Amino acid sequence: MDKIVALAKRRGFIYPSSEIYGGIAGFWDYGPLGVELKRNIKNEWWKTMVQMRDDIVGLDASIIMNPKVWEASGHLEAFTDPLVECRYCNRRLRADKPEELREHEKTHPDHIANLWTTPKNFNLLTEVYLGVTEPKQKAYLRGEITQGVFVNFRNVVDSARVKIPFGIAQIGKAFRNEITPGNFTFRSREFEQMELEFFIKPDENDGKKTFEYWKKQRLDWYLSLGMKREKLRFADHEPEKRAHYARYATDIEYDAPFGWSEFEGIHHRGDWDLGRHKLNYKDPESGQEYTPWVIETSGGVDRATLFFLIEAYKELDKRIVLQLHPKLAPMKAAVFPLVANKEELVNKARGVYDMLKLQYMVAWDDRGNIGKRYLSQDEIGTPWCVTIDYDTLKDDTVTVRDRDTTKQERVSIDALIGYIAEKLM
Ligand code: GAP
Repeated sequence: MDKIVALAKRRGFIYPSSEIYGGIAGFWDYGPLGVELKRNIKNEWWKTMVQMRDDIVGLDASIIMNPKVWEASGHLEAFTDPLVECRYCNRRLRADKPEELREHEKTHPDHIANLWTTPKNFNLLTEVYLGVTEPKQKAYLRGEITQGVFVNFRNVVDSARVKIPFGIAQIGKAFRNEITPGNFTFRSREFEQMELEFFIKPDENDGKKTFEYWKKQRLDWYLSLGMKREKLRFADHEPEKRAHYARYATDIEYDAPFGWSEFEGIHHRGDWDLGRHKLNYKDPESGQEYTPWVIETSGGVDRATLFFLIEAYKELDKRIVLQLHPKLAPMKAAVFPLVANKEELVNKARGVYDMLKLQYMVAWDDRGNIGKRYLSQDEIGTPWCVTIDYDTLKDDTVTVRDRDTTKQERVSIDALIGYIAEKLM
């Protein structure tokens, strides 16, 4: 983890938020490469979950909603974590995280017997105050992006040509007053979610089938982007761990350096949400009215960014290589003139760079020697390095060097966009 955190800072993936003022626990900023990686993850998700599907539409709801939403959804009452306080040093921790409690107990070995206060439930919603005159209106930053989908259910049914079964997908920020943010971005107070709410007829068999279907779809998506099967597993929630809205639930977990950790939740929310918002659906053919059930897939964009970074990090023969799937790599290619002081070479390389930039995020590097430039690109996961040399001036071909094999091949400039496109398929 220390190596990932250091690389993330040094190469501009992730920085502590407001660092020059000492930072703020649970908040992070994405640098020039982090923002590309994160955007690529979101784009891939959107492509799979919306663009390629005929039965899913997208939505982008506001972060702050009428506070009645949170009353109806049950979050004001039940969106809580149990908090205990150390009687010895007043450190607050989550009572449902035994490993963290045990870790803390090691710091007070003589006081373990009566160390913790009785657990108290602590609401995770972040309050905000709106308006300029007193009394200001109290509202909440959304604790899950989900409710924006439910409160727009009727709008979507009335305005888009959707019929049950169908889904609404959304990506956006959520906020939680986490008691113990930690493990880098893993548990943050501000984070992004990518979620699908899939609406079905209320039917036990169909519910189970749809739940299993989405478990597989989501697992396959991570595998298709380079996650190894042995690093992922499903973990069903025991009834006492389930969120207040879930009939049953499972997590996709990742084998992180800090232990198996929740990556994405798949929840059977039944008719909890639409029921609480008093929303129902009228079948256009049969005229039958009912409250649909919901199968939800809820992934964290920041967790995906972190876990893909961890998974990609390799130390090979004195090289640090981020073996990110090319679709996720922040830069698809880097373009180098062999030397920086030959105007003809530099101009030719600029032409190649400008051409590739029309299609892809591309890096330019003319510093130091080629070997150092390769090492620098390996460390940020650039799949292909394109060198313009003296032969290029004669035959319009370039050297393309592969990040993972380090093999080089000559490719004609005309074929370069197609060469990269084919590998990105
Ligand atoms: N709408 C359902 C829902 O929000 P959740 O299991 O509470 O379910 C879903 O959260 C996903 O959101 C998690 O699997 C995780 O990827 C991400 N997530 C939740 N809390 C987070 C936090 N404090 N920091 C970063 N990501 C978080």
